[in-house]
Amino acid sequence: MATPRPRPPTKPVDAAFARSLPKIELHAHLTGSISRDCLHDIWITKKARHPELDLVDPLIAIPPGKVDYDIKTFFPLFSSYIYKLCSDLPSIEYSTKAVLEEFQSDGVVYTELRTTPRAMPETGVTKQNYVETILNILKAHNDNGANTMRAFLILSIDRRNSVAEAEEVVDLATKYHPAGVCGVDLCGDPAKGDVRIFTSAFARAKAAGLKITLHFAESEVSATDLELQTLLSWKPHRLGHVIHVKEEYRNIIEKEDIGVELCLSCNVHAKMITGTYSDHHFGMWRHSNVPVALSTDDVGVFCSPLSHEYYLAAQHFGLSRNDIRAFCERAVDSIFTGTVEQTRLKSIYVEWAGWTSEER
Ligand code: IMP
Ligand code: ZN
Repeated sequence: MATPRPRPPTKPVDAAFARSLPKIELHAHLTGSISRDCLHDIWITKKARHPELDLVDPLIAIPPGKVDYDIKTFFPLFSSYIYKLCSDLPSIEYSTKAVLEEFQSDGVVYTELRTTPRAMPETGVTKQNYVETILNILKAHNDNGANTMRAFLILSIDRRNSVAEAEEVVDLATKYHPAGVCGVDLCGDPAKGDVRIFTSAFARAKAAGLKITLHFAESEVSATDLELQTLLSWKPHRLGHVIHVKEEYRNIIEKEDIGVELCLSCNVHAKMITGTYSDHHFGMWRHSNVPVALSTDDVGVFCSPLSHEYYLAAQHFGLSRNDIRAFCERAVDSIFTGTVEQTRLKSIYVEWAGWTSEER
């Protein structure tokens, strides 16, 4: 019997490969994905119309290059600045389009953006107007045959929400399910709130056919047995961050085949993990069988596009192109929109010449 010929080594993963790789982004907060330049454009437009606008230039409020936002400074950035700037429908439309363009030009071919429905009483905008406006932008994007990325929406329940507010998010998600809302998320400051109050809201979301994803064990305060048992009892389809998780819960996640959304730069810059990239728990999850989706979380704040997250993962964990292919193909199993998009994505990966081509 002839000895099998050794396979040629695969080409290394470099920045050009990571950029042209067709990528799936499953954990990106819409408002947190708005770039500083885009916020600056919005500020210029508003300031021209309303010179009395009492907000400093975003390039001063969120200095370019600053990424060391931690759990104490990160959440107030939204409530005390970005939400005040993006406080009308034209800003929401403009920023949503910009976010879609930026993900697409980074090589993202599928995304489920998430956002917390927000009323803007000063401009007469309801939460429903907010959701409809974003869905209209996503629809126009998806309907344009020149676009290579398809985008869907997850609605977030903020941990600070009341039960009534959470139920309102589920009502909106259910109503707009046929229009592109594919799931419901639990997000917000992990130091706030008691997640048990949302049990019935998430049960209702699931009963309506929506998928659910939860920020899970993001900080030590949100990783108590009580909280993690509660969240797992909701039978989520995916979990975000998954940092402070002991073996008992890791085993459940693996047994139930729950997809994990891992955000390297966000966790390093915000000091949510001890150490640096090579210490990230991606190093552990990469050896599990669950779908692992590298994600950006808030690229507008942490400034690391998805292609760079793939590049970092490859550099720090010695991933080959074949390893990356396996992650990408497996992540397809955990998307929320079902078989049409799964089939499209699987064929993108089968047909992509970049796995082996010299130029990439
Ligand atoms: P929005 O929901 O589109 O307005 O995006 C910004 C919001 O996402 C913030 O106000 C937070 O509530 C939430 N968010 C962004 N990043 C994180 C995170 O890492 N953990 C929990 N919540 C987050
Ligand atoms: Zn997040």
